[in-house]
Amino acid sequence: MDSTTTVVKGIQPATVDLRGLLKRFGKDVVAVNDVDLFIERGELLTLLGPSGCGKTTILRLIAGLERPTAGQILIDDDDVSRLPAYLRDITMVFQSYALFPHMNVFENVAYGVRVAKRPKQEIEERVHEALAMVGLEDYGKRATNALSGGQQQRVALARALVIRPRVLLFDEPLSNLDAKLRKRVREDIRSLQQRLGITSVYVTHDQEEALAISDRVVVMNQGIIEQIGSPHVLYTRPASRFVADFIGSANFIPGHYDGQAIDVLGYRRPHVQDMASGPVTVMVRPEAIEFAREGEEGVEATYLSSAYLGPVTEFIFDIGGVEVFATISGLGMSVAERGDTVRLRFNEAGVSLLPPE
Ligand SMILES: Nc1ncnc2c1ncn2[C@@H]1O[C@H](COP(=O)(O)OP(=O)(O)O)[C@@H](O)[C@H]1O
Ligand SMILES: [Mg+2]
Repeated sequence: MDSTTTVVKGIQPATVDLRGLLKRFGKDVVAVNDVDLFIERGELLTLLGPSGCGKTTILRLIAGLERPTAGQILIDDDDVSRLPAYLRDITMVFQSYALFPHMNVFENVAYGVRVAKRPKQEIEERVHEALAMVGLEDYGKRATNALSGGQQQRVALARALVIRPRVLLFDEPLSNLDAKLRKRVREDIRSLQQRLGITSVYVTHDQEEALAISDRVVVMNQGIIEQIGSPHVLYTRPASRFVADFIGSANFIPGHYDGQAIDVLGYRRPHVQDMASGPVTVMVRPEAIEFAREGEEGVEATYLSSAYLGPVTEFIFDIGGVEVFATISGLGMSVAERGDTVRLRFNEAGVSLLPPE
């Protein structure tokens, strides 16, 4: 691989192919357990999962900061598994506080190309180009600690882009920002990523962030991939209870499936899904539960409690011994005595089947 050609040609997004990737730490920790994953050119793919599930380790393996115990990493068609980090044309964006506080914006961004010992004029051009990409062309002389959190994060991004990476890696880049700013900066990152068409792997443990910015999301658990899919597929057709619970919240109610409809305690609702007939676990999203109107089919439930939150009311019901959580919009209901029987229906969009437990 000739890294100077990518330098003059600008950003050349690549594919990333992880094959049987395994990473052990010591004897007992399997941080990444035989992962196969193909990342398309120009896509933003997010690794989502609880702390310790192996997300950062995968990024560090792709970047070349860790050596795999087994398996391969291909960038386009190059097997880079044994290539040192600085020859991979890959760069990582961290939280904004990874900036050097004693250097101005220009110097922070220039750092990556100075390390690569590029000529002075090229360094200047590339820093200007990178700052322009993130909308900070006039900020070169500013001190980084005089910038807002969002601007600092953009400097961190420019510092990565100045390398003209074939793949951009993000490790929880927003965790240092407050909630409002997180939303803005994540939209910045997404629109920049789309504009540049740059292949990106993004790590977060925040499911909303993952859904909001990704082309595809990989849900991880203990070093393995639980499911890969678009945000919509993961939300509407989670492959496991873990995914259903991790992305949004979910109720799990025992039922029966006959290929055309689900039966929950005698409430039959049409449903078609690639699933064997027989006992099933019916996953129902809280927002998919409604009160059945007069004459409408529904399942009998016992009202337990509710909390009025303005736009929605949160209810807890008992359905056949299972506590069920429902978020119902509007003014809620008039019957409000604990122990009252109500009839509920499930909206198709928020119903999916899982194997029985
Ligand atoms: N350098 C290391 N030495 C030993 N164990 C490590 C090291 N880095 C990560 N681990 C372990 O590997 C697992 C995955 O960690 P990590 O990839 O950081 O997870 P995540 O980023 O999803 O929170 C964890 O059990 C963690 O403790
Ligand atoms: Mg991590």
